[in-house]
Amino acid sequence: MPTIKPKKTSTTPAPSRTVPRKRTSTADAAPARSRRGSARRVPWEHLGHPTSAVVVTGAASGIGRASASHLAEAGRPVAFWDLDERAAKAAAKEAKAAWKVPTIGIGIDVSNSARFADAIKASTKAVGPIGGLVHAAGVSGPMQITDMDDANWDAVLDVNLRAAAILTKQLAPELEHTGPGSAIVYISSIEAFFGHDFLPAYSASKAGLLGLTRSACATLGPKGIRVNSVCPGAVETPMLQPMLDIEGVRSGLETKTPLLRLAQPDDIAKVVRFLLSDEARFVTGTQLIVDGGLTAIAGI
Ligand SMILES: NC(=O)c1ccc[n+]([C@@H]2O[C@H](COP(=O)([O-])OP(=O)(O)OC[C@H]3O[C@@H](n4cnc5c(N)ncnc54)[C@H](O)[C@@H]3O)[C@@H](O)[C@H]2O)c1
Repeated sequence: MPTIKPKKTSTTPAPSRTVPRKRTSTADAAPARSRRGSARRVPWEHLGHPTSAVVVTGAASGIGRASASHLAEAGRPVAFWDLDERAAKAAAKEAKAAWKVPTIGIGIDVSNSARFADAIKASTKAVGPIGGLVHAAGVSGPMQITDMDDANWDAVLDVNLRAAAILTKQLAPELEHTGPGSAIVYISSIEAFFGHDFLPAYSASKAGLLGLTRSACATLGPKGIRVNSVCPGAVETPMLQPMLDIEGVRSGLETKTPLLRLAQPDDIAKVVRFLLSDEARFVTGTQLIVDGGLTAIAGI
C-alpha cells in the first residue's frame, strides 16, 4: 500500500480550554516524543472528567436523545441537533431542567452540510466550547438492491455517513482547540456486519462508519481527539417500531438474544457516555457492539 503523507498543520496541541491537565505520575508528566520527532504531550494522559460541551445529532428521539440526556446528567452541556426542531428544543429544555447544565435545541437537516457552520456557531455560543460529537441521526430507507435508485441511496448515505464525515471535518478544529479529552462517537449498527435484503443502503452506511472511524482516528488522534463507533443491536425506538409491529419479530428477537430482551435507548447511551469520558481515554479507532450477545451467537 502506498504511503500517503497528509499535509501537516501543527505538531503542538493547543492548550485545553475546559479540561484541566492533571499530572498523576512521573510517567504521565513526561513529554512523549511524537512520530514526527518533536517533544509533545501525549493525548492519553490522565485528563480528569471532561466538562466540555457535546453536539448530539438525532437528539430528539431514541438513542440520540438518551445519549444527550446521559451526557447532561454527567454534567456536560449539550447541543441537541435534530430534523425535528420542536422535539429537539423540548428535549434540550427537559435536560437543562433535570441536570442544570446549559443546553440548546437546534433544528437542522444534517444531510445539508451547508448548515453546519451556523449550527456550530449557535451551539458554541449557547453551550460553550465543544469537546464531543455523537452522530446518532439516522434513517433506514428500506429498499432491496434490485429496486435501488440514486435518490434512495443518497437519502440514506447522506444522513448516516456523509453527515458524520463532514461534521467531523468541520468540528475538528473546535474539538482540537477544546483540548485533549475530546472525542467522537458514531452510532453504527450490527447491520455493519450482517446483511438484510431490504437494507443495502443502511448496511453500507453503517459499515462505512466503521471505516470512517478507523481513518479519522489516525488523523485526529495526534490532535487529541478519539474516534469510536457503537454498534447497537435491536433497540426499542421509533426507528425499529415498524419491525416490532410485525407479528413474531419482537418475541423472536427476545428469544434469540442471550440477555433475553431488546435494548432500551439507555443501554446504548451509557456506552456512548463511557466512550466520551476519561474512562475510555486510550480507546480510539474501534467499535463496541452493544447487542445483548445477539451477534456473538450469530442470532441476527
Ligand atoms: N433502533 C435500533 O434498533 C438501532 C440499531 C442500531 C443502530 N441504530 C442507529 O441508531 C441511531 C438512532 O436511531 P434510533 O433507533 O434512536 O431512531 P429514532 O428514529 O428514534 O431517532 C433518529 C433521530 O434522527 C433524526 N433524524 C433523521 N434524519 C435526520 C436528518 N436528516 N437530520 C437531522 N436529524 C435527523 C430523527 O428526527 C430522529 O429524531 C440511528 O443512526 C440508527 O441507525 C438504531
